[in-house]
Amino acid sequence: MNLTFRQLKVFEAVARHLSYTQAAQALHLTQPAVSMQIKQLEENVGLPLFEQMGKRVYLTEAGREMHHYCRSIAAQLEEAEAVIEQLKGVQRGHLQISVATTANHFATRLLAEFVKRNEGVSFSLDVTNRKKLLNQLAENECDLVIMGRPPADMDLVAEAFMDNPLVVVAAKGHPLVGRKIQLSALQDEVFVTREQGSGTRIAMERFFREKNVQVNLEMEMTSNEAIKQAVEAGLGLGLVSIHTLELELETGRLAILDVEEFPIFRHWYVVYRKGKRLAPIAQAFRQFVHDEALLLQGAAMPNEYKKQ
Ligand code: PGA
Repeated sequence: MNLTFRQLKVFEAVARHLSYTQAAQALHLTQPAVSMQIKQLEENVGLPLFEQMGKRVYLTEAGREMHHYCRSIAAQLEEAEAVIEQLKGVQRGHLQISVATTANHFATRLLAEFVKRNEGVSFSLDVTNRKKLLNQLAENECDLVIMGRPPADMDLVAEAFMDNPLVVVAAKGHPLVGRKIQLSALQDEVFVTREQGSGTRIAMERFFREKNVQVNLEMEMTSNEAIKQAVEAGLGLGLVSIHTLELELETGRLAILDVEEFPIFRHWYVVYRKGKRLAPIAQAFRQFVHDEALLLQGAAMPNEYKKQ
């Protein structure tokens, strides 16, 4: 077979998206250019790799085989690139970081500090929820991810670097503020909650299920900012990471309730695919997160929420 890397790259994108249009967008090519590369590749291979039924594109059996090998070739090439960079001692480059919506409250500050200290570094930051982060890891679409604990059945390295206490918040005039509250007092309370797929939401549901407390979770929002505003406006209670609360605690707009068994202690992890050879710049950022996250965030967290 007389293939080119370019053909393989285009093939990989079409196979991943199962769409010529989306592959063209991802590669910044036109759709005819993508079709042409695939046509040439199919001629080289001597078998069709895709079949089109109606508007949908499917991989043929040969296509599936090619896709399997393509992915390991791409991973090997990436690894070779990282090793060469390491040999050159390169400390510059582009970081592709994805973080959980909630982690964004400190991750941006971390990245900004890292960039200040390392001239020549640029980054792309994607902020999204847990479910999408796991997809990105599965597809090898980013260097490093900052999120809550990933599932054990995925081939990932997950290194804990900081506590993530989850607390119950209320508007400042709420009748529960300033009282010692038993868990059972939350029965049937309305909580303004994050969407399905959020790590905070999963932890919250698990906690209340284990404690046998039924709460009302009918009001869903995809952003912590929106939740805080809704709570402040008196729509219900909120259950959020303490990392989202810096400003609200400072200004006294929201109060953390003193509920028994709270906070729920979770951790933040820096995560990457097992076996991935991180480029030196990604390696340096990973180390930076371990060394600096606590220092940068510690100042913002009230003492009683720092785990003993
Ligand atoms: P999220 O946070 O709720 O913003 O998805 C991630 C997590 O806590 O696991």
